[in-house]
Amino acid sequence: MAKVFKLNNGGTMPSVGLGTISFNESDEKIKFAIVTAIRMGYRHIDTASGYHNEMLVGEAFREAFRLELCKREDLFVTTKLSPDEMAPEDIIPSLQNSLSKMKLDYIDMFMIHWPLQLKKGSKMPPREGDFLPLDLRSTWATMELCVEKGLTKSIGVSNFNVAILKDLVSWAKIPPVVNQVELHPRWQQKRLREYCASVGIIVEAWSPLGAPGQKYGTHDLLSNLTIKRIADKHQKTPAQICLRWILECGCSSVPKSFNRLRMSQNFGIFDWKLDEEDLQMIESIPQNKYFLASFLCNKTTSPYRSVEDLWDGDV
Ligand code: A2P
Repeated sequence: MAKVFKLNNGGTMPSVGLGTISFNESDEKIKFAIVTAIRMGYRHIDTASGYHNEMLVGEAFREAFRLELCKREDLFVTTKLSPDEMAPEDIIPSLQNSLSKMKLDYIDMFMIHWPLQLKKGSKMPPREGDFLPLDLRSTWATMELCVEKGLTKSIGVSNFNVAILKDLVSWAKIPPVVNQVELHPRWQQKRLREYCASVGIIVEAWSPLGAPGQKYGTHDLLSNLTIKRIADKHQKTPAQICLRWILECGCSSVPKSFNRLRMSQNFGIFDWKLDEEDLQMIESIPQNKYFLASFLCNKTTSPYRSVEDLWDGDV
């Protein structure tokens, strides 16, 4: 299975990246982890303006360049537009701000982080008064302008459901290359994957391991008995089974680890494969979406009245 995926705009993207969202880790640890990942062979690094770490990510890149571990053009860098910067006049300044924090001339993928528009300065989770109507056409037109201006090579989306994607694809001049969503063996997203495959959008997994140890995450996935049994059979870890399954679905993933051993495990999924029996066993795992994001829904001000609305019934 491919180490690199071809995008619908002719570009390429390494299929496994390093997620960088973190809450309690020191700046030094974050920087060191990113340099270590690059040394190990990771070339795809995923951040977001909402992660508040772009400065550190950029410092890690410069350290990697100084050590001649890679060149800028070898890296695939993603950052994401925050919901409070979705207004057309805020988008290019937001991307320029991300670029200046990372000291880069361009990024490889600029994503809409959520299909949601909040008043400027609003923080996640939003309060009732923070919501604005989503004006996706204006936002996307400015995302397209970011490509035309050479500020990003590709544009993508995150947390988009099938209905919003269908709408976007029906009028976008430049379609999204990727939709980054919750995806793992306990939340297999069959409908979304089938739709995305039909229009050439790569589904990318955030929290591909269920974010064990994070306050929004669960240990449930890596301790799942089916996953453990398959891991024992292949002498791999449960995390590797999850990541290899994602890859075999034709999807990319951005597992977060700042631990050298786990980072290396997560990257060690290219030289072996799951067999038909494993795939069938994984398909039969009971489904459970961990991250409902109900804090984005309300009956008065949010465009999403309920989680069913937010995820187009896929809950
Ligand atoms: P750490 O950074 O200490 O390795 P996700 O990518 O699903 O959001 O999961 C991230 C969480 O999973 C982090 O807490 C990370 O901790 C942990 N993690 C990452 N890789 C592995 C692995 N191979 N096995 C177990 N836990 C992992």
